[in-house]
Amino acid sequence: GRSVDGGIAGHSALDVVLEGLRRLEYRGYDSAGVAVVSKGAIESRKKSGKLSNLIAELEAHPLPETVTGIGHTRWATHGGPTDRNAHPHLADGGKLAVIHNGIIENFAELKLELLDKGVTFLSETDTEVAAALLADIYRNKLAGDTAEGRLTRAMELACQRLEGAFTLLAVHADQPDVVVAARRNSPLVVGLGEGENFLGSDVSGFIDYTRRAVELGQDQIVTITAETVEITDFFGNPAAGKEYHVDWDPASAEKGGFSSFMEKEIHDQPDAVAQTLLGRSDINGKLTLDELRIDPALLKQVNKIIVLACGTAAYAGMVAKYAIENWCRIPTEVELAHEFRYRDPILDANTLVVSISQSGETMDTLMAVRYAREQGAKTISICNTNGSTIPRESDAVLYTHAGPEIAVASTKAFLAQITAAYLLGLYLAQLRGNIFSGQIKDVLADLNKIPAKIQKILDNAGPLRELARSMANEKSVLFLGRHVGYPVALEGALKLKEIAYIHAEGFAAGELKHGPIALIDDGQPVFVVVPSPRGRDSLHAKVVSNIQEVRARGARTLVIAEEGDEAVKAYAEYVFYVPETPTLLMPLLTTVPLQIFAAELAQAKGYDVDQPRNLAKSVTVE
Ligand code: F6R
Repeated sequence: GRSVDGGIAGHSALDVVLEGLRRLEYRGYDSAGVAVVSKGAIESRKKSGKLSNLIAELEAHPLPETVTGIGHTRWATHGGPTDRNAHPHLADGGKLAVIHNGIIENFAELKLELLDKGVTFLSETDTEVAAALLADIYRNKLAGDTAEGRLTRAMELACQRLEGAFTLLAVHADQPDVVVAARRNSPLVVGLGEGENFLGSDVSGFIDYTRRAVELGQDQIVTITAETVEITDFFGNPAAGKEYHVDWDPASAEKGGFSSFMEKEIHDQPDAVAQTLLGRSDINGKLTLDELRIDPALLKQVNKIIVLACGTAAYAGMVAKYAIENWCRIPTEVELAHEFRYRDPILDANTLVVSISQSGETMDTLMAVRYAREQGAKTISICNTNGSTIPRESDAVLYTHAGPEIAVASTKAFLAQITAAYLLGLYLAQLRGNIFSGQIKDVLADLNKIPAKIQKILDNAGPLRELARSMANEKSVLFLGRHVGYPVALEGALKLKEIAYIHAEGFAAGELKHGPIALIDDGQPVFVVVPSPRGRDSLHAKVVSNIQEVRARGARTLVIAEEGDEAVKAYAEYVFYVPETPTLLMPLLTTVPLQIFAAELAQAKGYDVDQPRNLAKSVTVE
């Protein structure tokens, strides 16, 4: 799930919650639900589809006026977007209601334990397991306690058992004036009102009522009533949140205070990568992709991989090829989905077709997947949208957990697609015994360091933004890269075309001398994505030579290089340094400055970066 909103309000709780959900709907919108608490009873309504479906349901079956309520809009992770899987989830005989964002990694194990105790479940969600655990503790472990503080204590004990990422909100009919919330690795803010208090996944949930907010720290629990806000850690020790004043207007609050969704999504990337990695390996550094539900014996037989996608997703596929071939030694082709089926491709039951799609609805990709299945190939979809068509029509799916991407130009989905492709590559290598388990563990450790490194890039982008603004009148920008830097160059060029409407081309750096170098003229800006000098063979040296070649012909060279690479300075007018990481993982870092460059330049030109002309977020025509 993606957005939670709860309120203890002088206003009607339901009105506050619905208004909050409307403002938070951008975070996910495949189902929505609310629960209100009155003395002794909880009543809930939930509905799949957009928030408007829930509102229609509430008109048909109204809920009573209360002061306490919670609500949720969902972006499915575990279990498809159905009425039943929508939040809130009820437990304790309907007296307890829970909503949740994030992923509870050990839900399967907890569920078995609860099933053993005779608990029954109505949904496939990890959230219902959290609700049942909370109810079990509330009802059994704390049987002797009075109502006062009991839900908070139950939440502490429950959180001590939960692994993964979660924001949880709970209400109980025994204490109709209280909402208890907990957070680990997932956002939660408190809104402080006059005689009313609020909770939200972000401040846009309550910005119409108060500007005073408290951000909770990691592993904290907050208990709110209309008058009080009490914060503890998971063991009941008093704790403090960080209070701040929100000076955003409601419209920019939905964008987290950023000027556009694209900027927000660029800044979401540390989280998008972290969430996509979450729960997919164990502490011993072993990949655990049981969610694929595809017979490992079949995957072992695969002798050819074809990656199918369009646009940015296809560039993620190109990165995947380098990684998969390196780790698995399985020949891997990448093809634009719309070209694939018109050339009579060679595939059979031992071919694995991996499709990559943010939306899961791209018609070109869908048609290619259908064709591949007809030819008997196994199909795995890497997708960001739970329950969408491409994963439904594939044999298996590996979801990227980037959260909804609103801006038309893809950013965080791209990094999440690359991350998921790495996980798939490592998993295949593990199954087939291609690489040592120690090596897999090392790559996973390096992947886990990526989010902090992306954050560092975001934090140091000031001079890069200045450069972008100074280039608002450029007519053409070229991008060069080699090896995994090549798809990054293509992606950098695509971003600039899409949102800044500037002519841009990405080239494999070595291809330049075979023609494109004729384009280089005095002052022509050329971005060069430089591989690590610590990397293999002479890759770095070759790219440095390419920089010199274009510079000698008058180009302005703008270089993306690895920290510590002093050699490039002599040939570059501008260098942006990214933190060190192994060569194969570099696209997760080197892409980010190019996204920032394009977004800043387009904004300097006054364009709407979220909705560029002529484009649509989901291309459902062939
Ligand atoms: C570029 C972009 C498009 C998409 C392409 C595939 O910024 O967003 O190139 O990557 O249309 O879309 P999905 O991933 O939804 O299949």
